Amino acid sequence: MSDEPLRILYLASEVEPFARTGGLAEVAGALPRSLRALGHDIRVAMPCYGHIDAQRWGLRPLLSDYTVTLGNRQEQASLYQSVLPDSDVPIWFIDNQRLFGSPELYLGEPDAERFIFWCQASLEAARQLDWQPDVIHANDWHAAIVANWLRTSLRRDLFFRDTALLYTIHTLAYRGVFGQRVLEIAGLAEYGFITHPDLPSLHRLVDLMSRGIYYADIINTVSPTHAREILTPAYGEGLDPMLRDRRDRLFGVLNGIDPDRYNPATDTQISATYDADHPEGKAVCKAALQTTAGLDVDPKIPLLSFIGRLSDQKGLGLLQETLEPLLAHHRIQLIVLGTGEERYHQWLQVLHERYPEAVQTFFTFSEPLARQCYAGSDILLMPSLVEPGGTNQLIALRYGTLPLVHATGGLADTVQDIDPYANTGTGFVFKQPEVQSLYGTVMRATEAYRHKPLWDNAVKRAMRTDWSWSRAAKRYDELYRRARASRLARRSRLSYGSISE
Ligand code: GLC
Repeated sequence: MSDEPLRILYLASEVEPFARTGGLAEVAGALPRSLRALGHDIRVAMPCYGHIDAQRWGLRPLLSDYTVTLGNRQEQASLYQSVLPDSDVPIWFIDNQRLFGSPELYLGEPDAERFIFWCQASLEAARQLDWQPDVIHANDWHAAIVANWLRTSLRRDLFFRDTALLYTIHTLAYRGVFGQRVLEIAGLAEYGFITHPDLPSLHRLVDLMSRGIYYADIINTVSPTHAREILTPAYGEGLDPMLRDRRDRLFGVLNGIDPDRYNPATDTQISATYDADHPEGKAVCKAALQTTAGLDVDPKIPLLSFIGRLSDQKGLGLLQETLEPLLAHHRIQLIVLGTGEERYHQWLQVLHERYPEAVQTFFTFSEPLARQCYAGSDILLMPSLVEPGGTNQLIALRYGTLPLVHATGGLADTVQDIDPYANTGTGFVFKQPEVQSLYGTVMRATEAYRHKPLWDNAVKRAMRTDWSWSRAAKRYDELYRRARASRLARRSRLSYGSISE
């Protein structure tokens, strides 16, 4: 297939550094740069939330007060443009004070209208600017309705009829489920509900995630393992029957990290810099972290960190059951950085009080502290029950901190279990999300830690793995071209009248 540059409209409800609640923002702030580096004309579109500082980010008005149709109503939108920092990737901020005036990203029930508006206003902006996208890359439920429009109300639209759509699932659990009114807001009332014999709830509810899956030309999620997992009831969040129907167009593409942004050789927020050939600085970082955390400063004690949301999905329940006996019987240290469910805050607080020299908690998110944990720890704990892609394990590898992970989703695809005899592997992997497996794997890791040459070799291997975005961008490039081929084939079938939609 030809490799001519494509015009790509990239829709994400959150984009770093402008707005972030989760991993989607990190992807949306990074992948478009690598796609640009491949030569594509890519524009990112996101809502202009109330907290976004127009001056700080250099927003300039591009379209003011243009009309956006929401069913039988009209709303006004304004479009501001800037670029992703240190790049020439344009980013569109779609503004409407009534819908996006508040600083919160997500508000619950009003979100159906807010995000349908943002999608419609993004398409309308492209039309007004006469910038015809070859591909729309829609992320998660917030942008899923675009797939629906392209295949129904817009399928004969002269401007968009050749536009293909790639739908990326980052978090299947967040489905965007609303009532019938949404069909009116989206101007889709005449097409009604989706009918699927195994998904009766879709006959009376609008599930935006399912519409992305049902109508996209190509679908992907953020790791090959998760692309297989979501075909099963255990991970399918109720949509596995539809995903199985469409498995021939479902792919898994691993996320990456920006190797310049995360680089222990140049990081100014850590106590000493280092790299795979000169790893000495890592010990300095460990001592500094032990000091900051008020733990015993001792290079011989393995230091484990957990960074992220304190929730069941991230494996906190499993940690809760496992850590108590571990701390009671073994000399390890633990730092937890993140916020989440109240019961886990309480439990960790008690754990800290019981083991003040071994456990420290920071109920916050702080980028400098996170970097100090990546640099200063020996092991990153990531026992997630579900992890579609995951980024923290990639950052840990880059900083020579060996990830200890449950073999699920992107964790299974990016961390290779250490085999001390073959001298291979980059971390510690357990298969069953159960106390014994996690306990045994922490034991295996702390045992390995006592064998310095073995450990140092594994750290070197971890630091040399390459998970940069350019690899992922090439995969997305392929998927865009597949989506286009599928779109064009469908259109030619349509124009010969051989199928009806
Ligand atoms: C979601 C997933 C996470 C993934 C991220 C970016 O937050 O839970 O695993 O890395 O999206 O794709």
